[in-house]
Amino acid sequence: MSIKRRIALAAIAVCLSVPAFGQAYPAKPITMIVPFAAGGPTDALARILGERMAKELGQQIIIENVTGAAGTIAMAKLARAAPDGYTIGIGHLGTNVANAVIYTKLGFDLLGDLEPITRLPANPMLVVSSTAVPAKTLKELVDYLKANPDKVSGGTAGMGSGSHLGALEFNKATAAKYQLVPYRGTGPAMQDLIANQIQVMVDQSSNALPQAQAGKIRAYAVTSARRSPAMPDIPTAAEAGFPMEIAIWNGLWAPKGTPAAIVDKLAAAATAALAEPAVRKRMQELGMDLPTANEMKPAAFAAFQKAEFAKWKPILEAAGVKVE
Ligand code: MLT
Repeated sequence: MSIKRRIALAAIAVCLSVPAFGQAYPAKPITMIVPFAAGGPTDALARILGERMAKELGQQIIIENVTGAAGTIAMAKLARAAPDGYTIGIGHLGTNVANAVIYTKLGFDLLGDLEPITRLPANPMLVVSSTAVPAKTLKELVDYLKANPDKVSGGTAGMGSGSHLGALEFNKATAAKYQLVPYRGTGPAMQDLIANQIQVMVDQSSNALPQAQAGKIRAYAVTSARRSPAMPDIPTAAEAGFPMEIAIWNGLWAPKGTPAAIVDKLAAAATAALAEPAVRKRMQELGMDLPTANEMKPAAFAAFQKAEFAKWKPILEAAGVKVE
């Protein structure tokens, strides 16, 4: 057999053995990197979503919590992963917009080295305290903080985390502040709040509302324009006298260069997962706002992320928030 014919046959054999993109994907389990500790709002959303996306895709989705530096370590790992659809990451306004402004020496392009896949539900935030704090209203909490400057501690998940952005907005709205104690996520921070190891936090509703409903912490206000049907008795921050609006939206990303057919397949699986009535009901019970199917399309999500970066860049620069 001539060498030419042998090479041609070998090439055909290789082509036949490698599935064309989009047909066989996913042919093995997918890793979903979660940038905060287990037990927090990002981890909880990842597990609910991952379980149902796995059904849609017919492959396991393995959650990998990669914590530290408010999600920048996780996103660096995601950016370095192979762009083959087998490593994706969940993130949010803090990890994938604010940190691009705050962290000046990331060593990678947080916006340019990641491929937006799809937009996920958003959490309004709750201003909460331990039950040991002698305040029953947001005004009384603000007065208490102002009367005890530098004596009250509050939890965040690091510079640029959602709970840090919440603390910044709280300070802008009330001129009150608290000592920021960084955790690997607001899951662990919530445990310390319940135990009065820290006294206050501005945290995502999916994490804080169940604890407030159980009477383990006190909720003073929600940071949305209107009261949430999930918590009709909690006033908006504006109703409580200190207008502040912030929601921590979530999303999925892949390494830059992940084929569009794979990005589309992942976005479709997430869209189907969020269309499930049981999933929608649970997320709404936690106070979350769900995106529409159109908002979940990759191109729409990419445009949304760019607009959020344009909105938050001047806010964060004005606040002088920088990590060198
Ligand atoms: C978490 O999942 O722990 C939170 O998203 C952390 C944060 O951003 O506050």
